[in-house]
Amino acid sequence: MNCRSCSRPIEPFMSFGRMPIANGFLLPEEFSQEYFFDLMPSFCTHCGMFQIIEQPDPGMMFHGHYAFFSQTSTGMCLHFQSLAESVIADCLTINDPFVVEIGSNDGILLRHFAKSGFRHLGVEPSANVAQVATSNGVNTISCFFNTATAEKIRNENGEADVILAANVMCHIPTIHDVISGIRLLLKPEGRFLFEDPYLGNMIEKTAYDQIYDEHVFIFSVGAVVNLFQQYDLEVIDVLPQPTHGGSMRYTIARRGFHRTTDRVEKQLQKERAIGLHKPETFLRFKENCEQSKKELMKTLQHLLSEKQTVAGYGATSKSTTIINYCGITPDHLVYISDTTPTKQGKYSPGAHIPILPYTRFSEKHPHVALLFAWNHAEEIMAKENRFRQSGGRWLLYVPEVTILS
Ligand code: SAH
Ligand code: TMP
Ligand code: ZN
Repeated sequence: MNCRSCSRPIEPFMSFGRMPIANGFLLPEEFSQEYFFDLMPSFCTHCGMFQIIEQPDPGMMFHGHYAFFSQTSTGMCLHFQSLAESVIADCLTINDPFVVEIGSNDGILLRHFAKSGFRHLGVEPSANVAQVATSNGVNTISCFFNTATAEKIRNENGEADVILAANVMCHIPTIHDVISGIRLLLKPEGRFLFEDPYLGNMIEKTAYDQIYDEHVFIFSVGAVVNLFQQYDLEVIDVLPQPTHGGSMRYTIARRGFHRTTDRVEKQLQKERAIGLHKPETFLRFKENCEQSKKELMKTLQHLLSEKQTVAGYGATSKSTTIINYCGITPDHLVYISDTTPTKQGKYSPGAHIPILPYTRFSEKHPHVALLFAWNHAEEIMAKENRFRQSGGRWLLYVPEVTILS
């Protein structure tokens, strides 16, 4: 296997074992045909790119019944509203600008541009979520973004002033085709802003649930600099974000068009200081994952022996890695509560734990809730006061396995 960024040979540093499609919630009649692959992370010692070795075909993950709708989280709605406001203020001050978003999902970000009357276009291959955006007045085409799509958009609309992408660049294995497309579509002085879960946060918190089929890459600033450099594009700014358990926003531009902020060099120095370029760091991460798994299973076994009911909170894509790597079964976890209608009534990928509507949780609290949606902890804890007050306990595993009572 070769690195998807620099083409040098790479090796896995560990295996999480056989994994199903992280968002592949399914019905009993589908259990026998469930697809599995080997989830093995790797770190390229040459360019610093963290990636998984094997990834299922994108068509198996992004399709007409994709289960993730961005607007299910109010925290994310607020986050994207503030991103839209800053893009409008900083980048769209010229006459009749054009904004493109890659992976626009249900329109969570672009709706702010649509509402203010800016020319905009979302590119979203999962037809069901794209349809929600379209019905809310967000211009959307349903296809994968690549060089051919970029050319078509440019021919029909002209060049883009700004291209945006949130939590999608890390999903795309054919990253070179995407960057060529961005280069083709972007005005010479245009800017490309993208954000994704950040490798530094994942390592620091042992948040190994960031590693699943869709996340073919977990980026660091060093690796992103090396990747875009191959296209004469430079990272002109970086800004840490609290979303998805710790993300980074990167601003990219053609070399020489914009001033680079000091934040880029500072973050690169920080990455060197925490050893993000060293293989030893990933071996330590592997040991931390193994330790975390042992502690979580010990805790769940203990709760089971004490006859405590434990339910999962949030059937996140991330939980698929935790559940299947740790070996959590329907004995440990009676159900997982989730507010997304398309997930309810189905079963979790791999372990086949029932996914039930939120009312199941709110009407009869379990003794313990395993917080799979830990990236939304603040929002969730704030609205679940009653659970705590009636004696309910939260079980967390990031950064450490802990029970809050
Ligand atoms: N931007 C949203 C959605 C992130 S989920 C948010 O941050 O909440 C990732 C989305 O990217 C999915 O809706 C998926 O269908 C889409 N996607 C995956 N591959 C893509 C590609 N090659 N081009 C455009 N979108 C893609
Ligand atoms: P995410 O971690 O990928 O954003 O997914 C969050 C999942 O958790 C999504 O399926 C919706 C669900 N969820 C709830 O069930 N209740 C909540 O309060 C929140 C914020 C999310
Ligand atoms: Zn590499």
